[in-house]
This record gives sequence, structure tokens and C-alpha cells, in this order.
Amino acid sequence: MSEVAAAAPVVRLERHGNVAVLVIDNPPVNATSRVVRAGLLEAVHAVDADAALAGAVICGAGKTFVAGADIREFGRPIEEPSLPAVVAAILASGKPFVAAVNGAALGGGFELALACDARVASREAIVGLPEVSLGIIPGAGGTQHLPRLVGIAAAIEIICSGRRIRAEEALRLRLVDRIAENACAEAIELVRSMHGLKQRVSERAVRREDDAKVEEAAQAALKAGRKRPQIVAAIESIRRAGTEPYPEAIAAERETFNRLRESTEAAALRYLFFAEREAAKVPDLEGIEARPVARVAIIGAGTMGVGIAIAFADAGYEVTLTDRDEPSVKRGLERVRKNYDGSVSSGRIGEDEARRRLARILAASGLAAASGADLVIEAVFEDMGLKKEVFAQLDRIARPGAILATNTSYLDVDEIAQATARPGDVLGMHFFSPAHVMRLLEVVRGKNTSREALATALAVGRGIRKLPVIARVGDGFIGNRIYAAYRRQAELMVEEGAMPEEVDAAIEAFGFAMGPFAVSDLAGLDIAWRNRQRLAPTRDPRARYVEIADRLCEQGRFGQKTGAGWYRYEPGARRGTPDPEVRAMIEEHSKRKGIARRPFTREEIQWRALATMVNEAALLLGEGVAQRPSDVDLVLVNGYGFPKHEGGPLFWASRQDRARLERELDALGQATGHGFQRGDIDAALALPFRG
Ligand code: 3HC
Ligand code: NAI
Repeated sequence: MSEVAAAAPVVRLERHGNVAVLVIDNPPVNATSRVVRAGLLEAVHAVDADAALAGAVICGAGKTFVAGADIREFGRPIEEPSLPAVVAAILASGKPFVAAVNGAALGGGFELALACDARVASREAIVGLPEVSLGIIPGAGGTQHLPRLVGIAAAIEIICSGRRIRAEEALRLRLVDRIAENACAEAIELVRSMHGLKQRVSERAVRREDDAKVEEAAQAALKAGRKRPQIVAAIESIRRAGTEPYPEAIAAERETFNRLRESTEAAALRYLFFAEREAAKVPDLEGIEARPVARVAIIGAGTMGVGIAIAFADAGYEVTLTDRDEPSVKRGLERVRKNYDGSVSSGRIGEDEARRRLARILAASGLAAASGADLVIEAVFEDMGLKKEVFAQLDRIARPGAILATNTSYLDVDEIAQATARPGDVLGMHFFSPAHVMRLLEVVRGKNTSREALATALAVGRGIRKLPVIARVGDGFIGNRIYAAYRRQAELMVEEGAMPEEVDAAIEAFGFAMGPFAVSDLAGLDIAWRNRQRLAPTRDPRARYVEIADRLCEQGRFGQKTGAGWYRYEPGARRGTPDPEVRAMIEEHSKRKGIARRPFTREEIQWRALATMVNEAALLLGEGVAQRPSDVDLVLVNGYGFPKHEGGPLFWASRQDRARLERELDALGQATGHGFQRGDIDAALALPFRG
């Protein structure tokens, strides 16, 4: 054992009469690091060797049982003893072991509990096997032991969703045997009542199940998990529980776990796991208290206002939803109601729950209704004059200390703040559509935003289960700024010779759910058109400008909602088909500009798009708009459909050949021409952790 471990044992063996209690004490979350595995193995052997002990309880110190394997160890070969060795020792022991699941038992933590002869959970306990969300499958018996408790079909659902299951449901599913106020005390009693008898999960027969039911579970998991390799492998491994002898199936599970652990996808997902925890850290906010927020007012009951209201009501906040007049408010509330009706009919929530959530939203016309709110979020039209007017009024009516947030997509939050006499309370809370679904929340810190206001917005963001990422003021903040650069390059490629469907196909082949042109058609071309008209006076005439989208808009082709945009849409169709008229318009456009069209390969399109994102990210990092490179990756992955398994543009770039990346950036600069700026790539790729 190492000196550190000897000084502070991470596994303590405490005696309670004839029962040993093995306490895992490895803050912050009792992950099964090497010292924990070694300590556990030693303790299991000690229990075996001591004739005075009838059995043992395993529990975690603090509020966690065991959060799982230590994810930081996954980037290199795992040192002995392995977790499967600990699991095997518990199963091989002649004495009963009971897990006192006193908090989260996830991944390897739950596998440890499964290896025990019984499980007692506290009310706060959460169990689950979230390995697929890290690009791997359970590697310490989970895929073999869980089916022996719940059957193959249920195990497929639990493992492939990676979902976290609360104590009550865990008891219903028989993942735990009991719930107790004091899990440890109850577990000690349970060990005594077992009179030395083992109930090994590994010796249980896998219940016979209808093939059709198993197949249905597998198909549903493949669909929900987009056929990622870890989902396919998890299903294979779970199915082995019903077809192969236990030792072979366990060995195959570990082999698959190790193979997947070394994949790029697993590294990307580990990186994102730590990136999320890192995003919560703001050096100068340490010790700053968030203000209490219970009542939230939303100004503007349009697309965003409605989604934001739902997000808050879902999380238990009291919401006031306002708009300028009665009919607009009514329309907004109707949309809220429709959303909850949909949730009830799809079975996501019960009728009573829907009613409770709906009742939290009070609708009112006029700004005065926002006067009692602790937080006001403005989501009116994207118009600086209007936003300033709204904030000037809010300044007069909002209670002192209320946080005043704008959901603006592009506008200058500092200018908006100047419309009030309390710019310290003003910031941006930029939600993504649909706001009650999308996890990302850009929190925009203005130059005068107080630390208390920022801390409050971050706390509230987490309170509504969003992923808050801090941005500074700058046109489009982090996400829209990068997205705008990427979309512009997509249009430049179309002007140079690619067709919209070729660009979309290349981007989708990389892993985005939709290419940029399909996204534009879905969002509506008119919004960007208006934005271009707004920016026209400031446009540098020497910079390349593609007029094709303007021509489409002039013809009333605003995208899906008008049946035509970059594509043509059959009534009710979600995907468009390439339109010969658009093709002709594009060819004519290039000709008029004297551009000789040339073919693009899929790889060329992908590199150009990705190099654009990387360069723009480097620029905004240089300007201090984003705090750290990993924040940029979180924004792209959680708000813009960048494939999670690639970890975000900067993580992706950090794994490419550096010389090629430089060549591609040179080529990007050449193609873009006047106005191109090159960012500091070294700084952007200095990722603190790489998975
Ligand atoms: N390994 C290493 N570090 C971990 C960790 C893990 N499994 N889980 C959490 N941490 C670290 C976090 O990085 C964070 O560190 P920091 O303070 O330096 O930033 C700290 O622990 C606290 O984590 P959270 O901020 O997430 O704390 P919360 O209290 O909000 O949540 C939790 C606690 C629910 C346990 C949450 O941390 C969690 O979900 N952890 C990951 C669980 C997981 O995915 N386990 C599966 C691992 S894979 C595995 O077990 C393979 C097996 O099959 C062999
Ligand atoms: P929307 O047009 O659907 O809704 C705007 C609402 O504001 C309308 O209901 C309108 O009646 C109301 N309104 C206008 N003036 C008002 C006033 N003086 N007082 C009270 N209400 C007033 O617009 P949408 O799409 O919801 O956008 C709102 C804001 O959110 C904009 O700033 C937009 O840039 C931003 N945003 C939009 C996203 C999107 O995908 N639609 C994504 C993220 C941000």
C-alpha cells in the first residue's frame, strides 16, 4: 500500500459485533481508484480469514456510496488489482456481504453492490450503470449480473439508457432488496439474519424471456443510442448472459470494456465529463453567494419565452409569463398547455403532474406583472431599440436586487444594461430552442455585471438542470459566433462548386444530425435575412458575400414553413429534396461572379467546416469571449448538434495531425480572402485534459 494510503486508509474495516463494516472513504465521490481496490481486496480477505466474523457490510463515507471507477485512470492501462478481481473475491467468499447503498452507486459502484449478496438502500440512494455515456460498457460484471436480477430485456433498457434510478424505483425493479432510513444499520442486521448463507448473483439462472420482448428492447436501445459502438456492444454482452457460460461471458465483457475504453469516442466522452465539471468553476466567484430566486418573470411569450417558462415550471419555480397584449399572452399560454398535453399523451408525465406544472405559470399582459420577480428574463423580438425600452421600464418596476436577464442571440448586453440604472444586475441568459429541452445555457457576463448576479444566474441555470457556460459580450457570444462563421463557409463552398445537399451530406456523415442548409430551412431563412439587412451598412465591400440566400428570400422561400428554401418540401415532409430551380440559381450565381465551379470531396467539405469552427473558436478565446477551450466544445456539442463522440471542435482538432491542420487553416484563409483573421491555435488547443 502506498504511504498516502497507509496514512489515511481509504477502506476502513470497522467491527460491529460479529459483522464487519467496510467503509470506503475516498473523497470526493469514493471512486474505486487503485488504492480503494487494493484496500477492498485486502479487507475481503481479512473478513474471510476471521472466524469471529459472520459476514460484512460495504458502505461509502459521506453522501455517496461509490460513484464508479475512477474515470481519470481510463486514459492509461488500469493497474492491478482490477475491480473485477474485487467483485470475484466477494463472490468467492464463503461469507455474505451486504451493500449499504447510502448514496449514488453508479457504474463500478453499482457493480460492487451487485456482487454483494443483498442490497439495502437509503432513501437518497441512486443506482445505475452510466458507462455507455462514457463510451464503454460496464466492466466489472454489470452486463452479466444485472440480467440475472431483472431479465435480459430490462437489463438492456437500464444499461443502454445509462439512466440513474432512484431508490423507490430501484426497489420496484428489485435492483435493491430494501429501503431503510439507516441503510448501514439495516444492512448489519441483514447480514446477521443470513446466518452465513451466500446468495451469489452469479449463481442465479437467467430468467427465460420471450425472444420478441428482448428483440424489442434491443431495437429500442439501438434507436435511442444511435447505434453507437458501446450500445451495440452492451446489447451483445447482455445477451451473452443467456447463451454463454458465466466465466466466458464475464471475460468477454472485460475484454470489450478495455477495447472500448481505448477508443476515441470514449476519450471524447470522458473529456466532456470533466469539461462539464470545469465549466462550473469561475475563479473570482469563489465565496460569492447566489441570491435566492423563487419567482421568475418572462417578458415575451413567443417561441423562446414559452420554452423558458416551461423549463422553470418543470423545475418547480413560480413563473409569470407576460407579453405586450392579451391575445399574445393567450397564445403563449395555449402553447404551454399544448406542450404539457403532449407530455401527458406521450406518457412522460402524469396528468396530475402536468396540472401542477401548468398551475405554476401565471399569464399576464404588461410589464407590471414582473414587479415581484427575483429574476426577469426578457425574450422579446431581437431589436435593440425595443430591448432598451423594455429594460428601462424594468428598471422602474423590478424590485431592488432582482436579476435582469436578456435572452438576446447577438445583441450587446452592455448596451442593453445601460438602459437601466443598475447595470450590475443585468446579464445575458441565452437559451437554445426549444428552451425546455436543450441543455445549454450561455450566461453572458457584461462588463458591469456583479459577481452576485453572475453567481445567481449560474445557480439558477443548474437549478433548472441546464448546463451553464459563461460567455463575455461579443456578437453572437460563443455559439452563434462560431455557427455564423461555419454557415458562411458553407455558403462560400456552394458558390465555389458544392451543392447544398453535398455540404449537408458531408456534415451529416461527420456526425451532425443535420447539415447547415437543412438547419437553415428548419429555422427559417427570414430571420438571418433580417439580420443581414441590419448589418448591411457595416459590411466591408471587399469581403466575399454570397447573395444566394437573399435571392431565395426575395422569392418568398423562407424554408420549411413556406414549403421551399434551400430545398423543396412536400407537404408534411421533414426532409427536403434538392430543387432544380435552386441548382440553376446557384450555377447562374457563380457564373455571374466569374467563379469556375469545381467539385468538392466529402472530406474537403468536412475539413473546411471544421477548420472554420476551430479558427473562430481560437479568435474568440483570444478575445476572452470564452473562459477556456473546453467551454467552447461544450457549447458546440450541447447547443449545435456537434457530434458528442468527437468531443467538440477543439478536442477533435487536438487529435488531428498538426501539420495538416495548419495547411487546412492556410487554405481556409486563402479561400476566404479579404478580412480573414487567423486565431492562436496553440492556445486554443491547450486542453487541460484530453480524456
Ligand atoms: N471518477 C473520477 N472523478 C470523479 C468521478 C469518477 N467516477 N465522479 C465524479 N468525479 C469527480 C468530479 O470530476 C468532481 O471533481 P472536481 O471537484 O475536481 O471537479 C468531483 O468528483 C465531484 O463531482 P460532481 O461535481 O459531479 O459532484 P456531484 O455531487 O454533483 O455528483 C455524482 C456526484 C452523481 C457521483 C457524479 O459525480 C457522477 O455522476 N459521477 C460519474 C458517475 C459515473 O459515470 N460512473 C461510472 C464510471 S465508469 C465505471 O464505473 C466503469 C466500471 O464499469 C468498471
Ligand atoms: P418570437 O417572435 O417568437 O417572440 C417574441 C415575443 O415578444 C412575441 O410574443 C411578442 O409579442 C413579444 N413582445 C414584443 N414586444 C414586446 C414588449 N414590448 N413587451 C412584451 N412582449 C413583447 O421571438 P423568439 O424567437 O421567441 O425570440 C425572442 C428572443 O430570443 C430574441 O431576442 C431572439 O434573438 C432570442 N432567441 C431566439 C432563439 C430562437 O431559436 N428563436 C434562440 C435563442 C434566442
